[in-house]
Amino acid sequence: MQDTLKKIKEVALKDLENLRTLAELELARVKSLGRSSELSQFLRTLKDRTQEQRKEFGQTANRVRAELEEEFEKTKNRLEEVGYATLEKFDVTAPGLRARRGHVHPLTQVQEDINAIFVSMGFRVLEGPEVETEWTNFDALNTPADHPARGMQDTFWLKDKKSNSKDKNWLMRTHTSPMQVRFMQAHQPPFRMIVPGRVYRNEATDATHEFQFHQIEGLMVSRKGEHAPSMANLKGVMEHFYQRFFRDPEIKVRFNASYFPFVEPGVEVYIQGSSGKLAGKWLEVAGAGMVHQNVFEQVGYVRGEMQGFAFGMALERMAMLKHKIDDIRLFNGGDLRFLQQF
Ligand code: DAH
Repeated sequence: MQDTLKKIKEVALKDLENLRTLAELELARVKSLGRSSELSQFLRTLKDRTQEQRKEFGQTANRVRAELEEEFEKTKNRLEEVGYATLEKFDVTAPGLRARRGHVHPLTQVQEDINAIFVSMGFRVLEGPEVETEWTNFDALNTPADHPARGMQDTFWLKDKKSNSKDKNWLMRTHTSPMQVRFMQAHQPPFRMIVPGRVYRNEATDATHEFQFHQIEGLMVSRKGEHAPSMANLKGVMEHFYQRFFRDPEIKVRFNASYFPFVEPGVEVYIQGSSGKLAGKWLEVAGAGMVHQNVFEQVGYVRGEMQGFAFGMALERMAMLKHKIDDIRLFNGGDLRFLQQF
């Protein structure tokens, strides 16, 4: 009999050890001390025992009950204390945490700046398709299949490249220049427009190269004549643009003779500014030139009737120079420590 009581007590104490909440405590209390608990049942059987046994077991049983009740009380106090202690950690008067808001990506910010400057010079802003045909991306831009300049831009071809019709050979555009073709096919000069957009090159990535980046194409064309856009106008537009973009009225523009199939003459545009990264040396910032008559002919204009200039620059390069960013991969890296600086 003493063993039974001892066992009852052990089980009840063991139950108490693992309790975490007051609700669990109440369940344990009913189990150990409630009316159908083993202990209560034991007490009820006492009446069938001898006078002597009743006295002995009765005393022990009541002592166990008293001890258990005390343990339950202690556990209750412990649980309540923990509960209040946790509650006390909430300072209801403390200021809340502000929800973090998203913001415009640095490249988008720079693109919007660029658009605004060109719009102020009367340029329209247009977008074009990223999936292009071989014809618009290369041939119409005076770059036929056997042209060595095809090698300048490693191309992502889309699956059914093996078509024999050039306007069905699909690729990811390697530059924004094909929009020159699309626009001129649909419009007559005079016009001036820029085309911002994503371009793709099938090449390895490093600190200054991504296989996907953005360009801004520019095109200004008129009928040939006294006021048709000239090389000098191109230089003036470039100068004004870079001075405003970098907020440096001291910026000078220099053209270096270069080659792009769709312009003649073609140039690389260099700038030098008065401070920071722009000071002291000439930086290449764009390609440009006078639109090749072959291109005018391809889009359906009469050879020799039109005159204009075109230019192309990389958005990432502009953003990197402006914000002194030294790795192009940061733009798409998704690192908030980088993005939140803008
Ligand atoms: N499309 C050229 C490239 O991706 C850049 C370029 C050069 C665009 C000269 C032009 C231009 O419009 O006249 O490398």
